Amino acid sequence: MCGIIGYLGDKNAKTVLIEGLRALEYRGYDSAGLAVFDRAGEVFIRKTEGKVKDLERYSASLSAEYSSGIAHTRWATHGEATGINAHPHTSSDGRVILIHNGIIENYMPLKKKLESEGARFQSETDTEVIAELISKFYESGRLIEAVASALANVQGSYGLAVMARDMPGTIVGARNGSPLVVGIGDSCLSIASDRNALPACARRIFYLDDGELVHLGAEGYRTISLANVETTKEVEDFHREIQHSDRAGYPHYMLKEIFEQPGTIADCYRGRILPQEGLARLGGLDPLDERLHDFRRIIITACGTSWHAALVGEYLIEELAGIAVEVEYASEFRYRNPIIDAHTLVLVISQSGETADTLAALREAKMRGAAVAGIVNATGSTIAREAGCGIYVHAGLEKSVASTKAFTSQVIALFLFALRLARMTKLSSDQGIRYLAELVSLPRKIENILNRAEEIRAIAGVFRGKSNCLYLGRGIQFPVALEGALKLKEVSYIHAEGYPAAEMKHGPIALIEPDMPVVVVASRCGVYEKVISNIEEIRARRGMVIAITTEGNEGIRRHVDHVFYIPEIDEALSPILTVIPLQLLAYYIAVAKGHDPDMPRNLAKSVTVE
Ligand code: F6R
Repeated sequence: MCGIIGYLGDKNAKTVLIEGLRALEYRGYDSAGLAVFDRAGEVFIRKTEGKVKDLERYSASLSAEYSSGIAHTRWATHGEATGINAHPHTSSDGRVILIHNGIIENYMPLKKKLESEGARFQSETDTEVIAELISKFYESGRLIEAVASALANVQGSYGLAVMARDMPGTIVGARNGSPLVVGIGDSCLSIASDRNALPACARRIFYLDDGELVHLGAEGYRTISLANVETTKEVEDFHREIQHSDRAGYPHYMLKEIFEQPGTIADCYRGRILPQEGLARLGGLDPLDERLHDFRRIIITACGTSWHAALVGEYLIEELAGIAVEVEYASEFRYRNPIIDAHTLVLVISQSGETADTLAALREAKMRGAAVAGIVNATGSTIAREAGCGIYVHAGLEKSVASTKAFTSQVIALFLFALRLARMTKLSSDQGIRYLAELVSLPRKIENILNRAEEIRAIAGVFRGKSNCLYLGRGIQFPVALEGALKLKEVSYIHAEGYPAAEMKHGPIALIEPDMPVVVVASRCGVYEKVISNIEEIRARRGMVIAITTEGNEGIRRHVDHVFYIPEIDEALSPILTVIPLQLLAYYIAVAKGHDPDMPRNLAKSVTVE
């Protein structure tokens, strides 16, 4: 999704901004641009369709020293991915230069009005309208006031960084719904949509809140509300996360992150389990401690892969702790009329902690008086901060657009939470001890799977020329089937659907034709025999079955065309093992088709617009 970076300081702004854009690249985008001021105060703007490397090439002629500037990666919402629609945008008088993340909902009436007053627009974007509007209010030297006045007329979401042609040493930022973080250093000030994009000089940071503006200039920073009232910020030390930003010898981040999973899932449970007592300790949930006994119902809300983790969580919490769980798409939850009472806990899951729909669902739940907790990967993200309490999953920076290691860590966090609840109610210490013994066996078992990645690469070959496939699973494997299908769609562009295996005969069976691949997650479980019957239904129609099953299950070979074995594990934890071959399968199919799995078309890593 769109990325924002702005910089004032003694380093060459062009270099700093390009580095910042590179750090934002993983989020997915289709065009990029920058505006830089040289030491004489002249501004230069370059923007282009394509990647940051294209922008770099296109701006190679900018060889002076630049003291300030703003830069942007754009993920198209209003208007195609072209150089003209790329940001920065300027007002038609050229006085205001601006980059924007978000969607301006009332841009059409604003545009018409501004056109009737003589404005001439170059692009199809909603963003250009804000530049024009700010210029209308702008009096030299009073940029933040002009931005506040303009935003009073705007409906929608935004993270903005604005400069004025006659104020080269000033950047104004404004936030409503799209994240912005300010970085402070000894000789620099910076602003970004993601703290990982801040320059190395940023030693302390603060986050802008919705409805807040910041003025960065030679005299430091100051923040105000939209109503022009000074606000105070909590500034925190910024210890950059160890970036692991290189691919460490892997051809793609997606593969690297799949292979990181033995470590990342251990990072999620390390320090949180008491194996001798069969207990899980989750310090981040301490604020809810006294209420944990009172919850009769849990709603888990999330989007995409995180929503699939939520579905696994539903099985875990209901099975282990016996508490009723409902899983809601965050995008639906926010517009429904959810029933929430004092005994309802709302769990919000997000890798990025910035997904607009999930954030809105969290706010809706809080507004209705629910107890809320977050299960989040990105530390300091908006959802983590607004949830107030929860569980960090500690998967580390996830750069691949297709989420892999975050999913397995989310499932571990949900497992720990289920265990915590279960031990307060119906689970004995012996049972808890057994579950934890299974949990700590996972890293070794994941390694066993990863060591056999070549088997999956061979199976990927059978997808050559295929354009449709099904993923089936039952019980706790149904969300895994959904996740396998999503991964395949995202990176290989093959149409794939996930279904509960028994649902197939209620419709999807019509799709099966000779040699159509059907991936069946058939680990040994209570309904294993029924899964075999479903496989036979596919075979009867000459579909091609690829099974993921448990070691030792030699009998399945009679029923399927290809099989991949996972080590034995308790059913509650089996999704962690069954999903990994499916992640690898999607990866190898994408690569075989010549696609870059790290940059899937049309996708953004963090969906900060509705
Ligand atoms: C899939 C994927 C997306 C995200 C979804 C939610 O590979 O990455 O489906 O899971 O956009 O994102 P978060 O978890 O950041 O809220």
